[in-house]
Amino acid sequence: MFTATAARSKGNLLDAQFGLSTGQIHKGLKPVTVHSLQKQYADKVPITMLTAHNYPSALIAQEAGVDIILVGDSLAMVSLGMADTSEVTLDEMVVHARAVARAAARSFTIGDLPMGSYEISPKQALASAIRMVKEGRMQAVKLEGGQEMAETIHKITSSGIPVCGHVGLTPQRQHALGGFKVQGNTVGKALSLLRDAQAVQDAGAFCIVLECVPQDIAEVVTQALKVPTIGIGAGNKTSGQVLVQIDMLGTRPPDAFMPKFVKKYGDEWTSSLNGIKQYKEEVTSRAYPAPEHNYKSDPKVTEALKAHIREFMEPNQAES
Ligand code: KIV
Repeated sequence: MFTATAARSKGNLLDAQFGLSTGQIHKGLKPVTVHSLQKQYADKVPITMLTAHNYPSALIAQEAGVDIILVGDSLAMVSLGMADTSEVTLDEMVVHARAVARAAARSFTIGDLPMGSYEISPKQALASAIRMVKEGRMQAVKLEGGQEMAETIHKITSSGIPVCGHVGLTPQRQHALGGFKVQGNTVGKALSLLRDAQAVQDAGAFCIVLECVPQDIAEVVTQALKVPTIGIGAGNKTSGQVLVQIDMLGTRPPDAFMPKFVKKYGDEWTSSLNGIKQYKEEVTSRAYPAPEHNYKSDPKVTEALKAHIREFMEPNQAES
């Protein structure tokens, strides 16, 4: 079971590794735990979840006070340039998770189990979840699916690893679903969504991502559950929200496909593009590096070096 003590010792490890003070990282805030999230849910304070795929993006999410950092398999597409999430492997996810974990002393961390790492059997899923915790240093795992995943979720949670469920649009099954489409929009589909969410909850999941569901349906499902729902494209009546950091910060090119529910809170593409263009221009014009970026030398050392070259070396073709 993950406790505040476990999370605190993660902070202590960071202190030792990086000489950082846990107090500095946390800014006096206690680490987020499953228990603190349950309290937050009971107090009806919306839970903020954001993806991070590497060390700096996790540091900044934590600095902003995000409760949960998700190492989502969306990284396959937005960070690794793959066509869809089915390509990313557990080995690759673990590398990204470890980097995120090094930054996240306060935020609670969840690592996605990628396609192929958990569907074959509950035993396979538990082995993958253990790797995500032992090697990826995550505090919980997320997996996609409803009623058919109940036994698997039970297996993982009863072994002491918290599970975040994921129902509605499950991108790993995009081909079966016929693409990235809104879910739960007929009576039959809404009922099946509710059954899925209940099964995932009853199997022991501590929270459930609800993706691409009409707001009213997401609200009814949320009210029927006893664990928090984290919405993405599911309106603002869920217990919390999650977005892909690279999407919401505007890091992707302006012509990249962006789902309707994404709000852009930044324009990293433009600011990075302008910065890199200026760098190129200043390198070309020799404006960079400027004197303030240079290391000082002793003129005598420079003179001695030149004298050595004059005496012992052939003239440089390019200079002659
Ligand atoms: O992979 C991911 O980033 C996700 C979120 C979008 C919920 O699953």
